[in-house]
Amino acid sequence: MVDYGSRFEGLMTQREMEFLILLAAVPTANGDILEIGSFKGRSTILLAKSAAEFSTSKVIAVDPLEGDALWQSSQVGVSSVANEFYSNIQSAGVRDLVEFHQAYSSQLAGSWETGRKIRLLWIDGDHTAKGVRADFELFFPHLAEGAIVAFHDVLHSFNGPTRVFADQVLSREDVCAAGVVGSIGWAQIQGRARISAEERGRIATLKRRVSSVADTLVEELGPSGWRSILFKLRRASVPHGALDPATWANSVDGTFAPKLIS
Ligand SMILES: C[S@@+](CC[C@H](N)C(=O)[O-])C[C@H]1O[C@@H](n2cnc3c(N)ncnc32)[C@H](O)[C@@H]1O
Repeated sequence: MVDYGSRFEGLMTQREMEFLILLAAVPTANGDILEIGSFKGRSTILLAKSAAEFSTSKVIAVDPLEGDALWQSSQVGVSSVANEFYSNIQSAGVRDLVEFHQAYSSQLAGSWETGRKIRLLWIDGDHTAKGVRADFELFFPHLAEGAIVAFHDVLHSFNGPTRVFADQVLSREDVCAAGVVGSIGWAQIQGRARISAEERGRIATLKRRVSSVADTLVEELGPSGWRSILFKLRRASVPHGALDPATWANSVDGTFAPKLIS
């Protein structure tokens, strides 16, 4: 049994980690995996291990590991984060499996190689609406047809991921599958299959509900007072339970996961 790195400190729940392992394991398109925001490497390690075991995708990760970007710095100590990240990916045995850029996502986007396609875009970096929107827009042109984009914290107290997931992603006409697992909002974009009216209606309802959660959130401030009650009520209206892997694989277009299926 592969240890996907749950022993490393990080900010994801078990349900979210299992879903991310699934996203890395089951390609819906040809291309690489890009992680924006690595912190101490917990999600980087599980993406790298899962991709190495089940697919041929490369994992690229970007995080400046310094300064204002580390919004958790008051709790964890900035200087230790970079050291811990490198030591964690080394001890997990994935250092050579990850193409790591110690940089801001905008810097990586500026030097992105033409034609390099992304099949899974995992956004967990700057959580402001401006930052999340920029990350989505900067890398959108590099998504492979049928790629998955996934945002962390769409049901958390940050308004950025929630707002951008509802307004920029779920409202797109070319989204062909979407959902929320824990606090990970995911969508498949530009798949080849036409989707049923029923599925289109389900995505529209999801968009409305996620958008109404975003309405209770104020930029960079968690909800308080009556907003907090409204936030919890609206969050409960968004289905976000664990997914059965086979059900998920059947719900997306174009999966090819020979090692998992054989
Ligand atoms: C929530 S943490 C990531 C947690 C990590 N994915 C995990 O599961 O353990 C957010 C990270 O995003 C990074 N970050 C913030 N702004 C960024 C940006 N513009 N580009 C890349 N990384 C950024 C921070 O340095 C921080 O380490």
